[in-house]
Amino acid sequence: MDLKNKKIVIGISSSIAAYKVIDLIKELRKSKADVHIILTKNASKLVDKKDFEIVSNNKVNTDLFNPNVNYIDYIKKNRPIRHISLSDTADLFLICPATANIIGKMANGIADDLLSTSIMATNAPVLICPAMNVKMWKNPIMQENTEKLRKLKYEFVEPEYGILACGYKGMGRLANLKKITERIKTIIERRNNLKGKRILITAGATSEEIDPVRVITNKSSGRMGVYIAEEAYLRGAEVTLIRGANSINPQYHFRDIKIHNVNELFKEIKKNIKKHDIMIHSAAVSDFTAINKHSKKIKSKDNLHLELTPTTKIFENIKKLKKNIFLIGFKAEYRVSGKELVNRAFSLLKSAKADLVVANDIGKKKRGFDTETNEVYVIDKNKRVNHIKLADKRVIGNKILDTIKK
Ligand SMILES: Cc1cc2nc3c(=O)[nH]c(=O)nc-3n(C[C@H](O)[C@H](O)[C@H](O)COP(=O)(O)O)c2cc1C
Repeated sequence: MDLKNKKIVIGISSSIAAYKVIDLIKELRKSKADVHIILTKNASKLVDKKDFEIVSNNKVNTDLFNPNVNYIDYIKKNRPIRHISLSDTADLFLICPATANIIGKMANGIADDLLSTSIMATNAPVLICPAMNVKMWKNPIMQENTEKLRKLKYEFVEPEYGILACGYKGMGRLANLKKITERIKTIIERRNNLKGKRILITAGATSEEIDPVRVITNKSSGRMGVYIAEEAYLRGAEVTLIRGANSINPQYHFRDIKIHNVNELFKEIKKNIKKHDIMIHSAAVSDFTAINKHSKKIKSKDNLHLELTPTTKIFENIKKLKKNIFLIGFKAEYRVSGKELVNRAFSLLKSAKADLVVANDIGKKKRGFDTETNEVYVIDKNKRVNHIKLADKRVIGNKILDTIKK
């Protein structure tokens, strides 16, 4: 994506990872972005401001106050005040690397230097890339601060696991620069492009009780649906997520309804569907449920014979509940050819009168249940196929949202 005419303000705080931002700026400039840097005073002790001026081709800002300016005269002349002018004109505000200190200041409304004051004054999306020692990252105060910021719609590229500059091993390394660049482009490109849309998303595994403690379930982590919900929310959509109780937790705060079994899932869909324009049904729904649920814990010494019956096919019933909803389903198959996968997905699309079906082969490595990545085929009503190659599930989720947007 071209970043021409896009202004990115990068706040660099004093993590040892600050030097890595040089390469990030080079990448952004290659995409033609206009990059402006704010360096905290402490960061300027770790890196040389001049290096950043050379790569960004702009003056680096460090001070809130200019000692040579008489501010009374200055303001009378309507001259720009640095923290306001940078904040007002940014398309994206990136904090990279973000120290525990700047995150703490942001979460608590502290504005005591150029960077923290500029963040306070911006309406642009803010993307935070933390980097710190593992104990600092895991500190409950730190986690409480990030949680608070997420609630307020600040975005994060989570730090990664690895050897840290301090010698420790664990979470805390600045995320991969490619990942950060991709996220910057996604945010700029997709800002508010689903505003006004109401999207109902199902995610994760359902589980059918066979006795009070045991269930039949599947390996779905819910990642795909939860990431789609998060990305839709960040694009300005009104999101309702209905998810299996054991799925991963969303990072942001939209309507989040937890369910256990197929009946609960269907009940919640019926209750909520009318208020939505789009439904993305990615939950891995149990295909069977026990005919006779035992009311007491089954003894474990003897052989056990379970009689199962198929559950309601929720996906095939959605259009009966709301005819004009834009409906997207998922089809998981196990080790079939690409052609067969598409054929099966298309017959599901037809039987459900759906608009799109996303198909994947969960028998292949790094694809499907409980993985961070996937490879999918998006099939439309005319059997046109969009093949999305192996990628992070968040990237796949965004591509699915792009297709829906189109
Ligand atoms: C060599 C060195 C490396 C540091 N690296 C980090 C780091 O990676 N993450 C972090 O949160 N703090 C780090 N610190 C601590 C911060 O610099 C310190 O908390 C400082 O007050 C933050 O100021 P700032 O957020 O205004 O830049 C480091 C300090 C030193 C001396």
